[in-house]
Amino acid sequence: MTRGKFYVTTPLYYVNDAPHIGHAYTTVLADVLARFHRMRGDETWFLTGTDEHGQKILESARQRGLEPLAHCDSMVERFQQVWRKLQISYDDFIRTTEERHQRVVQQILTQLWEGGRIYQATYEGLYCIPDERYWTEKDIVDGKCPLCGRPVVPLSEKNYFFRMSEYQDWLIRHIEEHPGFIQPEYRRNEVLGFLRKPLGDLCISRPVARLSWGIPIPFDPEYVTYVWFDALINYYSAVATAGGPGARWPASLHLIGKDILTTHAVYWPTMLQAAGLAQPESILAHGWWLSGEQKMSKSVGNVVQPLDLLEVYGVDAFRYFLMRDMVVGLDAAFSEAAVVGRINADLANDLGNCLNRVERMIHNYCQDRIPAAPDLEEADRELIDRADRTVPRVLEALDGARIHQAIEETMELVRAINRYLEIKAPWKAVKETGVEGIAGTLAVSAEGLRLACTLLSPVMPGKMGEALHRLGVLDSAVELLAHPPDPAWLRWGVLQAWTAIRPGTALFPRIETKPAP
Ligand code: MSP
Repeated sequence: MTRGKFYVTTPLYYVNDAPHIGHAYTTVLADVLARFHRMRGDETWFLTGTDEHGQKILESARQRGLEPLAHCDSMVERFQQVWRKLQISYDDFIRTTEERHQRVVQQILTQLWEGGRIYQATYEGLYCIPDERYWTEKDIVDGKCPLCGRPVVPLSEKNYFFRMSEYQDWLIRHIEEHPGFIQPEYRRNEVLGFLRKPLGDLCISRPVARLSWGIPIPFDPEYVTYVWFDALINYYSAVATAGGPGARWPASLHLIGKDILTTHAVYWPTMLQAAGLAQPESILAHGWWLSGEQKMSKSVGNVVQPLDLLEVYGVDAFRYFLMRDMVVGLDAAFSEAAVVGRINADLANDLGNCLNRVERMIHNYCQDRIPAAPDLEEADRELIDRADRTVPRVLEALDGARIHQAIEETMELVRAINRYLEIKAPWKAVKETGVEGIAGTLAVSAEGLRLACTLLSPVMPGKMGEALHRLGVLDSAVELLAHPPDPAWLRWGVLQAWTAIRPGTALFPRIETKPAP
């Protein structure tokens, strides 16, 4: 990834439904990455938003007896409210109904039309109305849509097509020459496999007579733009300037779920190529949160409302669980027991206890002041080395968006501090050596913890801000919610002797589980 600039996006969420755990996961992942990059001093831009056109949205609006835009307005409010509760620090929120977006979509359509990249033809085929997709005979399963299982209908109509097929060879070459373009590698192979079959042209219009809720095709008022052709352009329209792409384009990273890989890794790059725009650096597809064996989804009815769990366990613990328990790319099982288990083991036991121990000793033996460390012993130096080694490992994991690994590396440091304290047992040693003899242990463990909390702060900006305030390095406990820590904090040696600490109660109280009946 190019150092210095980081532009990350989430998919634009459909506003036919309330935000759920799948949306929350991608958005928290983007937030954590954005916060990390800000902490490293990169010029960071984080975009999210909503996908508001198309049949599904129109139907949801009708069901509620609302005009489509009024329906979208109220749903956008719900998304933004959840994002506030999840402490999402997006820089921009784009809605596909905004003028700034529609203008760019129409500009691109005009450019492609005038350049002969779009043509009109009669389409004959099978169509899934709810999914707004055409299928061929070989795609459909028992007369039903392979995506949603609902019946498809035969359709014959005039439409506009984008000459996507012309870019097939170029796309294969681009993917082969840019190994990081599609991540993880198995998804890259999946796309290359898909591209072994001939790539068709893409139908990019819908007749107004059938669907009016869309961006008008600028050169034919009888048609609106296909919802995917419209929505994908948001990544560009949000940062484009009047004169062209602007300094933020191209995106560094498009985060998506595995179900929308083809649209992002095939449609989008060919659209950009046809429009003469630079390609994003990377598209990363994550897996699904499962309930049992099944994807959690509204239609299955097994969806967890992120807000419910947020209220019970707190935003930081919830964010931590989402980031730690899903290996980016793979599916992960969701259960409340897993959330509780993770909070108790990692946050209450390892991290919370470590902070508590360090604070208590500095309180008891040093009147709440970080002691000056005398000459260091071998065990102290070993811990410092370990902390020094942790930082580049965490940063490397982050460059590959392997958040679970970045967290695990940091938690290993926390566990190492706990082991170090067990071995040095300052609470016993103090009896023989006096405070002088344990000053080094206390100073080293406090600084190690300070570093670990800094590394965890993009995941848990609230609680880690509180911890760093208690350790005396932040004046305000809520500072990290709005401002990243100083990049210089990614090195050993920030906590100065005589700094006053502010001991508090358990940062992550243990959650008592009810015994099974
Ligand atoms: N509107 C399109 C995206 C357009 S981007 C230009 C869309 N929206 S969506 O609201 O249906 O889905 C958004 C994202 O949520 C997808 O990336 C999808 O993978 C993700 N998830 C939905 N359910 C999920 C899980 N159970 N687990 C993890 N993510 C899943 O598609």
